[in-house]
Order: sequence, then C-alpha cells, then structure tokens
Amino acid sequence: MELPFAESYKIKMVETIKKSTRKQREQWIKEAKYNLFNLKSEQVFIDLLTDSGTGAMSDKQWSALMLGDESYAGATSYYNLKNTIKELLGFEYFLPTHQGRAAENVLFSVLIKEGDIIPGNSHFDTTKGHIEFRKAKAIDCTIDEAFDTELEHPFKGNIDLQKLEETIKKYPKEKIPFIVITVTCNSSGGQPVSMENMKAVRKLAGQHGIPIIYDSARFAENAYFIKKREKGYENKTIKEIVKEMFSYADGMTMSSKKDAIVNMGGFIALNSEDIFKKATVFNIMFEGFVTYGGMSGRDMNALAQGLDEGTEFDYLDTRIKQVEYLGKKLTDFGITVQRPYGGHAIFVDARKFLPNVPKEQLQAQTLAVELYLESGIRGVEIGTLLADRDPETRENRYPALELLRLAIPRRVYTNNHMDVIAVALKNVFDRRGQITKGLKIINEAPIMRHFTVELDKA
Ligand code: F0G
Repeated sequence: MELPFAESYKIKMVETIKKSTRKQREQWIKEAKYNLFNLKSEQVFIDLLTDSGTGAMSDKQWSALMLGDESYAGATSYYNLKNTIKELLGFEYFLPTHQGRAAENVLFSVLIKEGDIIPGNSHFDTTKGHIEFRKAKAIDCTIDEAFDTELEHPFKGNIDLQKLEETIKKYPKEKIPFIVITVTCNSSGGQPVSMENMKAVRKLAGQHGIPIIYDSARFAENAYFIKKREKGYENKTIKEIVKEMFSYADGMTMSSKKDAIVNMGGFIALNSEDIFKKATVFNIMFEGFVTYGGMSGRDMNALAQGLDEGTEFDYLDTRIKQVEYLGKKLTDFGITVQRPYGGHAIFVDARKFLPNVPKEQLQAQTLAVELYLESGIRGVEIGTLLADRDPETRENRYPALELLRLAIPRRVYTNNHMDVIAVALKNVFDRRGQITKGLKIINEAPIMRHFTVELDKA
C-alpha cells in the first residue's frame, strides 16, 4: 500500500487558539462595523485573513535571528541576505525595505510619473494603489480564462500577449516605464504564470525596450506550479526554476512576508546600477540606510534562511497540498471555488455562492461575515471593496470576480483545521437561500478602503 502524504516538518512550539459562541461573534462583528480587519485576533478561531507575515518560522530561522548583526552600516546580516539574493534570484543590486509595499513605494518613486501606463497581470491592490497615487494607470492584461472560476487552465496568471501588445502600441513608449508580472497572481486566485509566458513577455517587451519588474511575493509557489504543470520542468529543482524565472526580469519587488516565511520584511532587487542608485536615495528617505532599509539585522538573517527554505520542494509540496486538501473538500460539498486551486489560498466564488444578494450589497464581504458568524473563521474579501472606486468617476468598480479568499498561513494549521473550515462553509452554503441581504458602506477611505471601511447591514 502506498504511504499517505505527511508534512515535511514536526512541531516544536504551539500557540493556543480559542473558540467563541455565535452570540459573542454577533456582538464582536457589529462592534467591528462588519469589517473583519477590525476584529481582535482573540475573537478569531482560525485566521485566514492573510498568508502575509503569519507563517511559522523554522528552528533554523530562529537560530539565524540570534546571529543577527545590528550594525547601522555594513552589517554581516545585510551581506548574508545580499549573497542569498544574488545566488538564488540572480540580481546584482538589492535594497531592503520593511515590506512589499515599501519596495513598491521606493521603486515606483524612481520609475513612475504622472500619466504613465503600467500594464500587468491583475496588479495587487498596493501595487495599483502606488501606481494610481502617482496619477498613473494600471492596465490589466491577464488572460480572460482567469475570470471564469470553473475553467481549468494550468496558468491563469498568464499575461494575454495580444492585450499587452495592443496596450504597448496604443501609448508612446516613454509612457510605459515597465511591465509588472505578479507571480503568483494574488488577485486572480493565487494563479501561476508559466515560464513560456514569462519568456514571451520578455521577448515582446525587449522589442519595445520596456523593462519588466516582477511582483514576487509568491515566486516560489509559482515555481512549484511550473515544475508540476509545465513540460520540460518536471526534473528541475525549484531553485533552478526560480533562477530561470528571474532571468527574464529586470528587477523585482518582494514582500518577504509570503514565500520567504518571515513575519516582516521586503526588498527590491535590480540588474541596473543606475536605477539602484536612484532608488537608494528614496530608500534612505523612506526606509533607512542602504544596508538595513527598514529591517533589523536579525530579520535580514531570518529572511535569508527563509528564502532558502521556501524554495525547497518538500516544503512547497506540503504547503500546496494543504491548500489543495481544503479546495477538494469544498468542491466535494458543491461550492464553486477558483480552479485549479491556488498556491496560497482558496478563493470562493461569492457571486455563485450568494446569488440572492445584489452586487451593490457586497456579496464577498457578506459571505466573509457569514463565515465568521458561523464558526469564528476570518477570511477576506477580494471583490468590490478591494477594487476601490474608479479614480476618475468615483463610481464603484465591480471586478470580474467577486471572491472570498481563505488564505492559509504557512506551517501554522493542520488538516483538522482545514476540515473545520470546510464544514463551516458548507453550513453557510446549506442556508444560502435565506441569505438575501448584504451590507452597505457607511464610511470609506478614498484609496485602499477595504482595510478601514465601516459597514452596516443593508
Ligand atoms: N504584492 C502582492 C502580490 C501581494 O499579495 C502583497 C501583499 C503585496 C505585493 C504587498 O506586500 O503586504 O508586504 O506590503 N499581500 C497581502 C495579502 C497583504 O494579504 O495578500 P506587503
């Protein structure tokens, strides 16, 4: 008999989590203005708000912390991280930042000016936020297949080359400072980009002299999917695949809180010395001196170790199989989720789940609240609230997909927790016919409103 699958690690330290009653949760979510970001973590039983900064570090990462060098300038931890980035990702120049959006802030301060156009694949909200904040425009060139949740396609994060070419031809070259490729594509469901697509975008961009920047938060999960799904890569190591992926990029921004399995941190890595020098000025202004830029020495050390561990096959296999385990359970219960299952999360199709709630009443947010009330599980809306209003018309933007994301922290929960999540969602699914009213906005910020929005029952 074939041995069943088991995690590629054992547990050394645990953290207590507490259940609550439905009555308590009704009170708490009302006090939180129906915004799950406002809940206290003690009010949550299983926290699937994000996989960002919520992972469990390994014994080796904790050991690396102890060896951190806290020198203001020239710390060994900085050089340790610099060498890891060069070896693993191939970039000559790098700047540490305190997280991914800080890397965007610094790099985009150099590259983007008012009126620019940034084509890409479903830009993440902070990426789009930093583009629109500079009065530039993000143009989504993701393939149409990504927007049909039930369609099986191995690389739903791919860029549609025709859409990209049309965009490039429509605007003068100097208006397009770079193309952004998000690996994996968070907003379209943790979906990967194929190596073939990266190569093709490189070729097209090269013909027009446009640089490419990867938004790399989940690059290792992307490499795992390439190994599993793309012909010619099955026998390559994750590290070999990663190296090839980044060989088609001119630079990258990184939120280390995801695939580098640390609780805080980010960086920019580049081939161009010129851009590096320009970015250094902004990094010193916004983040910190060149050799720490928003990170302590110990955190850079843990990050270097995390980059190495996060690109090991056994770790990734454990991680992605857990996400798939949850996905399969939900599919078996008849719940529509983005297929194939994503790298870091399961994305529930809220439009299909709650067809009786009008789209103006925020279907995915309504589903997130219902799941919390049912079981104390906290997911996050990836839908109308996240999409913000159109910066010109100030009308709500209704995105192609209205999703509830169940993001799985790395090395934190067991499959027993996945079972609880699946049954809790099934219980909501069984009474979906009675859910006809959603939520309405009482108060919102002009940009990135989903973090602080205040809601009430519609
Ligand atoms: N890019 C992608 C694809 C992301 O998913 C995120 C963050 C960022 C950039 C920004 O990085 O948080 O370190 O500043 N995503 C988190 C999430 C917040 O929950 O998906 P950050």
